[in-house]
Amino acid sequence: MTVSSTPVAPASQPHPPGGRHGHDPAVRTFGLTKRFRSGQVAVDGIDLDVPAGSVYGFLGPNGSGKTTTIRMLLGLVGPTSGQHELLGHPMPAGAGTALARIGALVEGPAFHPYLSGRANLRRLDAADRHADPRTSAARIDEALERVGLLAAAQKRYRAYSLGMRQRLALAGVLLQPRDLLILDEPTNGLDPQGTREVRTLITELARDGATVMLSTHLLSEVEQICTHVGVMHVGRLVAQAPLTQLRADATARVRVESRQPSLAVETLRRFGLTEILVEGEIVTAVLGDVVADRDGGPEKLISALVEDGVPVRGFGVVTPDLEDVFVSLTGEGFDVSG
Ligand SMILES: Nc1ncnc2c1ncn2[C@@H]1O[C@H](COP(=O)(O)OP(=O)(O)O)[C@@H](O)[C@H]1O
Ligand SMILES: [Mg+2]
Repeated sequence: MTVSSTPVAPASQPHPPGGRHGHDPAVRTFGLTKRFRSGQVAVDGIDLDVPAGSVYGFLGPNGSGKTTTIRMLLGLVGPTSGQHELLGHPMPAGAGTALARIGALVEGPAFHPYLSGRANLRRLDAADRHADPRTSAARIDEALERVGLLAAAQKRYRAYSLGMRQRLALAGVLLQPRDLLILDEPTNGLDPQGTREVRTLITELARDGATVMLSTHLLSEVEQICTHVGVMHVGRLVAQAPLTQLRADATARVRVESRQPSLAVETLRRFGLTEILVEGEIVTAVLGDVVADRDGGPEKLISALVEDGVPVRGFGVVTPDLEDVFVSLTGEGFDVSG
């Protein structure tokens, strides 16, 4: 279903992200919660903050509450408690103003297999009571061009590849100018080529001024195209930050492998290393400023370990990548394929 759709304003008519509320966060929620009748709390008091102009990755494994959250944002399902604002408008009061500037893709839109891509968009546009029929043809061609489907516009939908189908869905979202795009797993089910096409398109749309909030279960997708991330874990938002900040926060640890880990611990402690952990024969600790890598700290540590008579079998400095950061936040791995 295309909840509403559209393209972003063309580069020739730039408009500030967020429209008249250009400096408001594009999405903000306050304790947003959804408890289903089964008693299950699918979304548990989350405070989202999607900055205007960001590409915000709403990251979490299947079942973590992403779709339920997005459905609440769009008013497709009511929250049990909590509030939210879209483009600076409190919802649902501001729905009339805000939703016209928001394009959303929540499930695959119901396109007709025997109609062409263009004819499908005509049907979609005709069903939109906000759409001006006089400009329909021009807006459809503009949207088709935006997603790179103009040349294939006459082809039947059933002849489209998965990537083309998803790009047509995005063209449907782009029939009107949008300040905010909310896309629920837009690359799900696509082959590598289709995935690339859709990611490239999202990046272009963001560059043209749209704020994009996209849900995904793929950390690699966040790393490739997002500027910000919010991490969902069983209905809770366990982290939310610019990606640059998460990367900067990832601290390097030393890793010593020894038959006598307690001896290694003594040496590391003497050097002032913190957060010393022992797991079997592996000892790790935060390298920190005390033994900074750039000052040859690790080399000094190795000498000290040897001098102290610690039988060292392995030594290394490990800087965690984003996956390690998220695993430490959620206690589980992320699908890093795709
Ligand atoms: N209509 C519903 N009724 C009851 N439970 C639901 C409903 N929709 C989703 N859920 C449950 O809520 C949890 C979150 O689901 P969902 O929001 O779809 O997660 P995600 O999109 O991250 O995969 C899941 O455990 C799911 O089974
Ligand atoms: Mg989902």
